[in-house]
Amino acid sequence: MFEVIQAQPHDAILQLMALYRQDPNPHKVDLGVGVYKDELGNTPIMQAVDRAQRILIEQELTKTYIGPAGAPQYNQLISQLILGQSLYQQLSNRLAVAQTPGGCGALRMAAEFLKSCSPDTTVWVSDPTWANHIPLLGGAGLKIQTYAYYDHASGGIQFDKMMSALDAAKTGDVVLLHGCCHNPSGADLNLEQWKAVTELVQRKGLLPFVDMAYQGLGDGLDEDAAGVRYLAEQVPELIIAASCSKNFGLYRERTGVLLILSANAEQSLNTASQLFGTIRSHYSMPPNHGAAIVEVILSNGDLRNLWQQELGQMRRRIGDLRVQFNQTLSQQGVEQDFSFIERQKGMFSFLGISAQQVHRLRDEYSIYMVDSSRVNVAGLSSQNLDYVCKAVINVLKTS
Ligand code: LMR
Repeated sequence: MFEVIQAQPHDAILQLMALYRQDPNPHKVDLGVGVYKDELGNTPIMQAVDRAQRILIEQELTKTYIGPAGAPQYNQLISQLILGQSLYQQLSNRLAVAQTPGGCGALRMAAEFLKSCSPDTTVWVSDPTWANHIPLLGGAGLKIQTYAYYDHASGGIQFDKMMSALDAAKTGDVVLLHGCCHNPSGADLNLEQWKAVTELVQRKGLLPFVDMAYQGLGDGLDEDAAGVRYLAEQVPELIIAASCSKNFGLYRERTGVLLILSANAEQSLNTASQLFGTIRSHYSMPPNHGAAIVEVILSNGDLRNLWQQELGQMRRRIGDLRVQFNQTLSQQGVEQDFSFIERQKGMFSFLGISAQQVHRLRDEYSIYMVDSSRVNVAGLSSQNLDYVCKAVINVLKTS
């Protein structure tokens, strides 16, 4: 039977991780996968996570099943983090919430849920979007369309084009938006633009679906959630998939959440029943450990403060690196304008160079980034910044 199976194309981001690991060059630089790194290039366990983990080991009394929805306390705390206390209070009877295996689990369960609402559902994703959005959503059988988003010339958003593309969507179509720190471009909607998108989805009867994978790594925990909170206040139905991979550094613990807002409390009971049934038929129940850590942190004042401080340091380091990257390129005499890197948010920016130039950086300098020229700014440091800038300038000048 298996002879019919063909080898699948490599996942670009995961393949890059493997190539980087194999490279013996001591000067190699990893600007590929979206993982936060410190000044030494490490991704340490956050102190708040480490302490919560110890508390958990001392206090945990059972390993029995937690059910398809996951832990109620985690679901409540993480929903409050995303929506803010008062909005959560206001909306809680319209919310179905499930702890999920990472943001990917949330995205896929949302897609399966949408499929059960209507098998012909079309999801509009930004051009470009995170490479795994399309397999995660399309793999569930949803149709994918793209809307114009990133403007390579200015490093901003082609907002008029985005709005006219979405104006062509039909009632019932779904619009996937990045809550903050757009992956891969770093170009975010401002609040006025969120308001305009909200007005458009309401007018056209579209369903907004927000992927929130980087809350706290752009401008701050509340600031980064301003757009999604505005939407949640206005629209009858909304889906939010969120991840604790980056802001809690829990990557391998696969910790995420799916929130589905229904038009009223009665409908929300049916939504929850369908969602939990969908989860049961896919992976039955989410893994516990990562969510249990988040629950300890968010319910303990000291740990919560510590976590916020650590997250703030990560955010500021990324912001500083953005400034230093642009300044160092300028000081070293780059001809192109890279000031957009300073304006963008979160881990990623496009360098705006060709795939050939990306390959030269990899082959000649052991600097790794995705072929689209997306760089993980957090992979830069005072130790490699000069080296990376010189290499980029050299490749730009000689190709
Ligand atoms: C990325 O975009 O690099 C991260 O979200 C990691 C991944 O799974 O692709």
